[in-house]
This record gives sequence, structure tokens and C-alpha cells, in this order.
Amino acid sequence: MSENQKKVWITGGSSGIGKSTAEKFAKEGWLVAVSARRQEILEDMAKNPNISSYPLDVVNEDNCKNTFLKIISEFKEIDLCIFCSGTYDPKKEKEINIKQNKFVMDVNYFGVLNCVKAVEKYFKERKGGHISIVSSIAGYRGLPNSSGYGPSKAALNNFAESIYFDFKKHNVRVSIISPGFIKTPLTDKNDFPMPFLRSVDFAAEKIYTGLTRSNSFEIHFPKQLTLLLKFLRLLPYKIYLFLIYKLYKR
Ligand SMILES: NC(=O)c1ccc[n+]([C@@H]2O[C@H](COP(=O)([O-])OP(=O)(O)OC[C@H]3O[C@@H](n4cnc5c(N)ncnc54)[C@H](OP(=O)(O)O)[C@@H]3O)[C@@H](O)[C@H]2O)c1
Repeated sequence: MSENQKKVWITGGSSGIGKSTAEKFAKEGWLVAVSARRQEILEDMAKNPNISSYPLDVVNEDNCKNTFLKIISEFKEIDLCIFCSGTYDPKKEKEINIKQNKFVMDVNYFGVLNCVKAVEKYFKERKGGHISIVSSIAGYRGLPNSSGYGPSKAALNNFAESIYFDFKKHNVRVSIISPGFIKTPLTDKNDFPMPFLRSVDFAAEKIYTGLTRSNSFEIHFPKQLTLLLKFLRLLPYKIYLFLIYKLYKR
């Protein structure tokens, strides 16, 4: 570990976007603390000298707090956190399923809150750093078969906007990442054609560039899809619901 090496904590790092992002940061010379529940995958990743494994269940508030304390005692500093853990099972969202919706909210929303809470005091006292939350285009507006996942991501967007102001006062940057469709075990469960589907390497590249070379609040990709959805977000309900229903009925 060198004095000048930048340091990042990435959750959801055992698979998909988080794993690829962890490997990208490590390749760029960052020291990476990687977290998720599957310890054996993290340990395998930690064969890379720039990656260290910190197993964690984000649903457990104390686990998040203690994991961060362990990381900071070993890394001494953290410059950036990328909170990427998440879950989605489209089959379980075809009709309202309270148990499933609470589970998705617990992982996707409260899991991220637990992590942000774990780092809040550290970053505010340090008066610098960056917290980035992996949300989704599914949080922009209501979409079919997404009665748990969509609201969990919409809540994350609102949460990130809300804490942005307070953290900015302490010189801490807050940002969100809104991926379109990226091929991962999570989207492999989808049974519909995914427009502009991209690879995890594409996502990792966009995330790395967005977090290290821009100051934007939102990093979104691929633009072909996200800009279209941003336009749809501006439409009045009557037109938005009509268009989405037309596509859904096909
Ligand atoms: N793929 C896409 O198209 C897409 C689009 C928009 C947004 N996203 C978001 O991107 C993030 C990553 O998704 P992905 O597609 O890469 O999915 P993925 O391959 O299924 O990865 C999900 C990650 O979250 C971790 N995780 C799940 N529950 C956890 C828990 N309770 N505690 C700690 N870690 C937990 C998983 O690790 P363990 O199972 O080892 O715990 C895994 O590392 C998610 O937030 C997702 O909502 C994905």
C-alpha cells in the first residue's frame, strides 16, 4: 500500500457491475476494499494485490458499521465509496408481493442507507471524499413488473438528492449512478428483450470515468437509452402512461 494510492470501498463487489468496477479501479492503481456476502468470491478477487476482501451483509446495520471500521483501520483512509449492492427478481414482481417488496426495499434501499450511515461521520470529519450510490433508470418513473425494484431505486434517488446538500456543506461529494441494461446475473432473469444491453466492462469504464473525471451528480449510460428515458420522464402522465402501456402490451 503506497501513501499516494487512492482508496475505494465497493459493495456488491462479488458479481456483475460491482465486481467489474472493483477490477477496473484495481487495474487503474486504486486500492480496493470489496464487500458482498459471498466470501469465497471476494477472496478469489483478493488474489489481485490491489483488492482486499471485507465480507458484509448490507441489511445488517452493525455489520456495515463494523466492516467500515475494519476497512479504515487497515486502509487508514477511504477517498470514495461505491454502494452497488442490489437485488431484483422480475418473476416475483409480476403481482404485488409484500414480503418480496419488503425484502427488495431492505437490500436496495436500507442496505445502502446502512452503508452511508457507516461512513457519514468519517467523511464529514475528514471534510472530503465521495459517496456514490448505484441506482437505476428504473427509479426515474414507474415501469411494468417493477413494483418493488422501481420504488427502491426511486427512493435511493430522492435520498441521494436529499443528503447531497448536507454533505456538500462538509465538502463531501454525493453522486448517483444510473445504468441502463447491463448483462449480469441480475438481468439474466429478465424474459423480455433489453434495449441497448451493454457489458459489465462497458459499465465499469463509464463508472470509472464518471467518478474520476467529471463532477456530475448523475452518471448514466448508455446514453441512447438514458436520454430517451429522461425525455419520457418529462412527459405528462397521460402521454407517459399511454406510451409505456403500448410497449408493455406488445
Ligand atoms: N444489471 C443492470 O442492468 C442494472 C441496471 C441498473 C441498475 N443496476 C444496479 O446495479 C447494482 C449491481 O447489479 P448487477 O446487475 O451487477 O447484479 P448482480 O450481478 O446480481 O450483483 C449484485 C451484487 O449485490 C450483492 N448483494 C446482494 N444482496 C446483498 C446483501 N444483502 N449484502 C451485501 N451484498 C449484497 C451481491 O453479492 P452477494 O450475493 O455475494 O451478497 C452482488 O455482488 C444493483 O444495485 C442493481 O440494482 C443494475
